[in-house]
Order: sequence, then structure tokens, then C-alpha cells
Amino acid sequence: MSNTFLEVRNLKKYFKTARGYVHAVDDVQFSIEKGKTLGVVGESGCGKSTLGRCVIRLLEPTEGEVLFEGVDICKLNKRKMKELRKDIQIVFQDPYSSLNPRKTVLDIISEPLIFNKIMPGASRADIENRVVELMETVGLAERLINTYPHELDGGRRQRIGIARALAVNPKFIVCDEPVSSLDVSIQAQILNLLKTLQRERGLTYIFITHDLAVVNYFSDEIMVMYMGQTVEKAPSDELFRNPLHPYTKALLSAVLVPKVGGNKERIQLRGEITSPIEPPDECRFAKRCNYCGDGCKKGTPPLVEVAPNHFVACHCIAKDKNTLTLQELDLMK
Ligand SMILES: Nc1ncnc2c1ncn2[C@@H]1O[C@H](COP(=O)(O)OP(=O)(O)O)[C@@H](O)[C@H]1O
Ligand SMILES: [Mg+2]
Repeated sequence: MSNTFLEVRNLKKYFKTARGYVHAVDDVQFSIEKGKTLGVVGESGCGKSTLGRCVIRLLEPTEGEVLFEGVDICKLNKRKMKELRKDIQIVFQDPYSSLNPRKTVLDIISEPLIFNKIMPGASRADIENRVVELMETVGLAERLINTYPHELDGGRRQRIGIARALAVNPKFIVCDEPVSSLDVSIQAQILNLLKTLQRERGLTYIFITHDLAVVNYFSDEIMVMYMGQTVEKAPSDELFRNPLHPYTKALLSAVLVPKVGGNKERIQLRGEITSPIEPPDECRFAKRCNYCGDGCKKGTPPLVEVAPNHFVACHCIAKDKNTLTLQELDLMK
């Protein structure tokens, strides 16, 4: 465990609304080793962004611990947190709305250098040279240094977002749907760039996406979220080879191309999505689950390790670590 870089324990984030508390993140835990990527996947609204923001304390968690190299960042005072901000960065989905339209590429990338005093005593020319270096790192031509974000395409804008995050030499980056608003061909370029940067700099990533195909390419481990909770977590290959939770299966069935002659069908989820406002103590997926039985209403299913490093939270599957496949459950019906 000595290589654990980030450990999140029992993290909760509830938002108070007129209709009650939204359980956006409800008791999530995981750890990531240095230089690795945890992929976080799930439908829109399941709490991915809230989780990402709590982990870097852009949002204050309601409960829980976030241990960053052993230090609980939720307990740090403002000054200590500001120091740590250099180590942890975020890249957002929409580079258009996260970049100030009135600032040039030079302004945008130099801002974190100046704000965090990364280059004390540096002249304008030094800072500009550093910006050019960062632009080169992310594949932006130097001639674009005085352009504005709206003059550039989505891929280039996202490269600016990445350069800005890299400016402070972070150790850890939360990538929140960084390619979701880009064309498929450009997605691959940006994913490759993020991968190369990770390898070269030993970066640790949380990679958030609603697209399992993207997360597979990118992640060492994948955590599947459903309504604020982890329903399954496993090494990437294992999750794709042996998905256990009915929700994971449904997600996978939507992205995998059927084998020639195979009978792979897209699994349709039934029912309506339950409200995340003060949800009852039962499996949150029950109403949409094709395997839901009486037992599924008896409390929140715990996350159980059913194979090495493969965790699943499903009343039907994880009984005393004896894994039943859903095919077996089908047979028992
Ligand atoms: N500031 C907020 N106030 C109230 N509810 C919020 C707030 N931010 C997010 N939520 C709710 O929390 C849940 C999770 O949202 P979010 O983390 O954005 O999901 P995702 O990133 O997976 O789409 C949603 O039900 C959303 O409506
Ligand atoms: Mg989001």
C-alpha cells in the first residue's frame, strides 16, 4: 500500500434544496496509486463531477476524508490548501466556457504561473518563454500565443486547458469529461496527449466520463457510479471481461460492438430513474433492474470484493463472496 497516492474514505456530498437533500455523492471510497488512472463512469447526474470537485476541494465534502499523499486535505487551512493547489489541477469538459473569452492564450496560460508564484522574479520575457514551452508540450503552435479562445477549434481550446493545468507542475489532475464535447477524431488526439503527459511526468489521474469506450482506453481501474454510489469497481480489463453489476452490463452493452455471429444485444433498462433527493435505504438501481427481487429493497447493498480487486454492490450477486453470474440468476428465475 506504500504506493497509494490518493485515498478517499466515506466521501459524501449532499446539496440542500427546497425539496430536501440531494445525495450527489453518498459514501464513496477508493484509492489510486501514483502514476495511475482511476476512470469514473456513469450516466449524467450520477455525481461524477461532484466527486471530482470534492476530491480537489473545489467543493467542501459533507463528510469523509481525502488523503493526498497521506494528508487529509479537508483539514488543511486556507494557506496550506493554497500551497497544495499547485499539486492538484482540473481539466474541464467544455474548454469554451472554462476559458475566459477576453484573454489571449498567453494570458490564460501565464495566469497560474503568476498567481501561484511559480517563477519568482521572472521577467515578462521569461514567463512568455515558459508559456511557449507549455504550448509546445501540448501541441499548440507558438504563433497562436496572441489569439483568443473563440478563434480556435475545440481541440486547440482543450489543449489550452491542459497547458494551463500543467503550468503549475501538478502531480494529480482530475479530468472531468475532457473530450466529451470534441469530435471523435480530435478526442483521440487529446486522449493520446493526456496519456503521453502522464507517462512523461508520472501524473496521477481521475478520469471522469459517461463514455465507457473512452474510459477503457484510458484507465487502470474503473469505478462505475450510480446515483452517488459506487456499484462496481475493478481493474479496467477485468471490468470489461467480467462485468457483474446489472447496471455495468447495461452500460457495456451500449458500447461494445457485437462479435460476428455473436448474439450480443443491447440491454434496455426499464423503469424510471429514482430521485437522488433523500433516497430510501434500498438498492438505488432496483427500480430499473431486470434482476430486482424482494431482497433488493432490504438496505443499501454493500460493496463486496467478489474477486481480487473486483468489487460489486448488488444484493443478487455478492452473497458471502460466492459470485453468481447473472446468467445463473436468469436460470434460477
Ligand atoms: N450545486 C448543486 N445544488 C444542488 N444539486 C446539485 C448541485 N450540483 C449538482 N447537483 C445534483 O447532484 C447530482 C450529481 O450531479 P453531478 O455531480 O453534476 O453529476 P454528473 O457529473 O455525473 O453529471 C445531480 O442530481 C445534480 O442535479
Ligand atoms: Mg459532470
